Amino acid sequence: MSDKNKIIIFDTTMRDGEQSPGASMSLEEKIQISRVFDELGVDVIEAGFPIASPGDFEAVTEISKILKNSVPCGLARATKKDIDACKDSLGHAKKFRIHTFISTSPLHMKHKLNKSPEEVLEAIKESVSYAKKFTDDVEWSCEDGTRTDMDYMCRSVELAIKSGATTINIPDTVGYSVPSEFKTIIETLLNKVPNIDKAILSTHCHNDLGLAVANSLAGVMAGARQIECTINGIGERAGNAALEEVVMAMKTRNDLMPYTTGINTKLISKASKVVSNATGFPVQFNKAIVGKNAFAHESGIHQDGMLKNRNTYEIMTPESVGVKQTSLVMGKHSGRHAFKDKLTSLGYKDVTDDVIESAFGKFKILADKKKHVYDEDIIALVDDSLIIDNKVNAINLKSLKVYAGTGEPQKAEMILDVYGDIKNAAETGDGPVDAIFKCIKKLYPHDVKLQLYQVHAVTEGTDAQATVSVRIEENGKTTVGQAADTDTLVASANAYINALNKMIIKRDKTAPGQTTEQSFEQKVRGI
Ligand code: KIV
Ligand code: ZN
Repeated sequence: MSDKNKIIIFDTTMRDGEQSPGASMSLEEKIQISRVFDELGVDVIEAGFPIASPGDFEAVTEISKILKNSVPCGLARATKKDIDACKDSLGHAKKFRIHTFISTSPLHMKHKLNKSPEEVLEAIKESVSYAKKFTDDVEWSCEDGTRTDMDYMCRSVELAIKSGATTINIPDTVGYSVPSEFKTIIETLLNKVPNIDKAILSTHCHNDLGLAVANSLAGVMAGARQIECTINGIGERAGNAALEEVVMAMKTRNDLMPYTTGINTKLISKASKVVSNATGFPVQFNKAIVGKNAFAHESGIHQDGMLKNRNTYEIMTPESVGVKQTSLVMGKHSGRHAFKDKLTSLGYKDVTDDVIESAFGKFKILADKKKHVYDEDIIALVDDSLIIDNKVNAINLKSLKVYAGTGEPQKAEMILDVYGDIKNAAETGDGPVDAIFKCIKKLYPHDVKLQLYQVHAVTEGTDAQATVSVRIEENGKTTVGQAADTDTLVASANAYINALNKMIIKRDKTAPGQTTEQSFEQKVRGI
């Protein structure tokens, strides 16, 4: 691939991005972002608007001291004091860029600048040549470019280049253009401006109509070789073209857009997170490339396709943008194939088709009621189905007698059927439930941790049926047992035995050492 197809990535997250209401970043945050951008491979970092505030001046100064690869840049209106602030703050870097701009649309010249077109041309000449005294790398922008008269734009671009600009940026300041029009603007400049070969044309598109990325790419296809963009697409009003989208569009559709960038795309996700944390702007779930759902699939048809061949529903890999793995989210649209795959990922092996069918049926009912079906929900469903499938329990309560009340140490006498052997035991304990659990442990020696013991009354009144839940844990695997009885102590014994019976089956049916506590998301994302 020759250099003529290399696209310069100019990031303006810390200048135009910071102009989003509420997106201001501290000096420390800007330094952290700059280090990530430097590593990411951004060619030019517009670090701020140095004249705008002492904070901006300081940020541009500090950033220009630390960049190793990226070229720092500062923004300046067409005035000497703005350009001086740029040179004073950027001067710490070996190489730096000054970006100066002035409006060229009739609307802006008349109502904003109160200048005639000739006066604006004079300002272009003065500002660009003044900036050129301090650096070879001068960029000039015609603000509100897409609403500028084309002949006037050609004249001003020619003059900016003659005065020393090496990059000419065409902003769609108000996000008004459409791809075909933007393409024509770039083509016209390339065809009509006599000295255009001495400069690189650049795009700077805002997203008011949701077309910032499309317009930027149209500009590149017409011959622009720099894109100005921001991470997560932040920026004035509806934002700027998103860096991650333009870069991944060119990479993924390289057949149609045979351009290269210096971006290490594997760092895109990291850059997105750093910017989101610094600005406090969350990334929308369905945001292209960096949204939480960008590589998540819930529908059964899609999950099935993904499991057969990920190309069916993925045009780029999550790994290519630094996301560890695709996530198959279990919800009401998920199908059997994904459910089976989920069971495997949770460590269940040799589970019969009957168990899968029964658990899948219960899962569909639950998913209809619940927005999020967690791994723990699925584990409970499968464990229930396993115990039903197993038909015969390893341990069964035959009889229980409990001595409770004041004055006496609480005592339980129990007969259990353990794998067909009838065994009995008597134990005292710290309360009747403790005595019961000790009897079970004596008759069926085991080493599990009791994680939860809960009693609920199903109905009101002293004759209420009690439901007892018990959760136990063994080597990272957990099971939950439940039982109901009008006698709370009988329900307690049965709930504990139920949890143990599930654990006995689970030891067999799940992979050794598999922890069921780690969520699927954690597992697929490797965190
Ligand atoms: O949108 C715009 O016109 C700008 C210029 C300052 C380049 O941000
Ligand atoms: Zn802008």
